Formats: sequence, C-alpha cells, structure tokens
Amino acid sequence: MTGETTATAVAHVNVALVKYWGKRDAELVIPWTSSLSMTLDAFRTTTTVRFLSAEGEDEVVLDGEPVTGVARQRVNAFLDLVRARAGRVGKALVDSENAVPTGAGLASSSSGFAALALAASSACGLELDATALSRLARRGSGSASRSVFGGFALWHAGHDDKSSYAEPLESKGFDPVMVVALVDTAHKSVNSRDAMRRTVETSPLFQPWAGSAAADLKEMRAAVERADLDAVGEVAERNALGMHATMLAARPAVRYFAPATVAALDAVLALRRAGISAYATMDAGPNVKILCHRADADAVAEAVRAAAGCPTAVAGTGPAARLVTPS
Ligand code: DP6
Repeated sequence: MTGETTATAVAHVNVALVKYWGKRDAELVIPWTSSLSMTLDAFRTTTTVRFLSAEGEDEVVLDGEPVTGVARQRVNAFLDLVRARAGRVGKALVDSENAVPTGAGLASSSSGFAALALAASSACGLELDATALSRLARRGSGSASRSVFGGFALWHAGHDDKSSYAEPLESKGFDPVMVVALVDTAHKSVNSRDAMRRTVETSPLFQPWAGSAAADLKEMRAAVERADLDAVGEVAERNALGMHATMLAARPAVRYFAPATVAALDAVLALRRAGISAYATMDAGPNVKILCHRADADAVAEAVRAAAGCPTAVAGTGPAARLVTPS
C-alpha cells in the first residue's frame, strides 16, 4: 500500500489479577508465565497513526508533547515491525492521548500498545484477527496483548511468537469494580521493563514465584468463570504480593511501596475484617487497586481515601480495542 493512510483506535487499560512478570525471550516478549487480567472502562488510550509516502524519522506525540529517547525508539521499533509485515515504507505520525496517568503503575503501556497495534496495522491495510492483533500488540508491550480484549483476558505464555497470545474469558454475570488508590501519579523511578529484567536476573525468589503461577492461574480462571469475587480476590492479592516479594529480593531491590501504599493495604484488611469483600493488587508502581463488589465501591473508596490520603478512581470492566472515527 502506498500514499497517505490513517487510522484511529481506542484501547483500554487492563490490570492483571494473575501477573505477567518476567520475559523468557525479551526480543519476542515471551513471558515465563501465563497471566489473566480485567480490562477497565475508566482508563484508555486513543491513538491515530498516519503513514506518509515520504521516508524519514517517525514522529510520536503523547498528550500533546513530543515523545523522545527510549520511549520513541520503542514506538519506532514497533512501527518497523508493522511496516515490514505490510511491506510498506514511509514515516509515520503517531498522535496518542491517554485518559490515564502515564507511568504511574496504571499499566498505560497495555492500552498504549494495543491502540497502536490496531491503528498502525489498520492504517497499513493489514486485516488482523483478534489473535493476530494480540500477538502483534505483545511485541510492543506484553500486557498490551490482553488489552485487545474486553472483560477478562487470559494471555497464554506459549513458547514462540505463534503460541503466545491472549484470548477473552467467559465470565457471565461477573461485574466487579476496581477502586484505584492514586498514591502517586508522578513518573516512577524504575520503569517496569528494567525492574522486570533485574528481578529475573537477580532475584532468588523469582523462579519459586513463577513456579506457583500455574496453580494461581488455574484457580483464578475457575473463580472468574463462576463469578466468585472472594476467590478471585484472594488469588489476585497473594499473586501480586508474591510478585512484589520477588522484586524486594532483587539486587538491588526494586521497591514500589510508598507509605500511602501500606496505608491503603491496611485499609483493605480492615474492610475485610468489617465483612466487606475487598482485595488488593499492585503493579509496577505505588498505586493500589482494590477489587470489590460494585455495591461496595463508595464505601471502599472512602475508607481508602481516609487511610491513604490520596484520591481514588473507580473502574468497571471495559470493552475490547476498536477502531473509531477521529473526532
Ligand atoms: C506489573 O507489559 O508493561 O503490570 O512487556 O516490558 O512492556 P513490557 O512490560 P509491561 O509489564 C506489565 C507488568 C505488570 C503486570 C501485568 O500487567 O501483568
């Protein structure tokens, strides 16, 4: 395909309930373990990709600001992959907007690379089915493989490019919410990619945690399918805290806990003691995401705000990535 072509896509952030942490193959982004996530309605990325006939450096804008350095190189490398697949040359203009605090451990790379994969592949004339799109998004950022889907998604670790992709999970009648404690929305000090690599290479706890992931996944999958919030929450909390234990044991340690993080985790325990089903998960940042019934969302948000002194946001399950007409 030649000439100027453009496409706009929206994808939503997902939060893993059984985490992806550690790559077996960094180039292909093949993880050590399979993971399972919930896509969120409240946080999303909208991305327009325009391919020009002229050759030159790709230009990338995020929230109105030019993207430079390593972040831009990552987008360039991803666009090279799409161009190679489509047999096309010419620079790209990428314009992306995040309705989510970037870099705050809200996994904005999940929605970012899912939206980029869909917009770029469509602008190039590649018609990918959802599995192929998930595999492509994975090359940009592992968690993006899951943001191709709405609701709950399972990313099969696989062993090569073909076998590593996500698929949607059956979850009839399961409609929990996530209360996000926005402990710190500033850019984090160690990005998740570097933290992940350091953990795999140096943490004596990494392989034991990865070894326990298959059992967590099996339990989680069954719990999601039978819409059992308490079982989902229990597995999600232990899996996430275990992942953070692998990081704490890395050399040097990777520690994302802020005082307000611990206060939010304490509030979750207090809520449970008071009989409210609330369970915490955390990603590569200090924010705490609390899974609970929709009917308890306000009470949970209020308790967490009071304990941690930070703002909260509430999200339900969100939709799959899709193409849209730019506004
Ligand atoms: C802690 O998908 O951001 O959020 O593949 O290096 O881009 P890269 O990593 P990324 O890692 C996400 C890690 C996590 C857990 C998860 O989403 O499963």
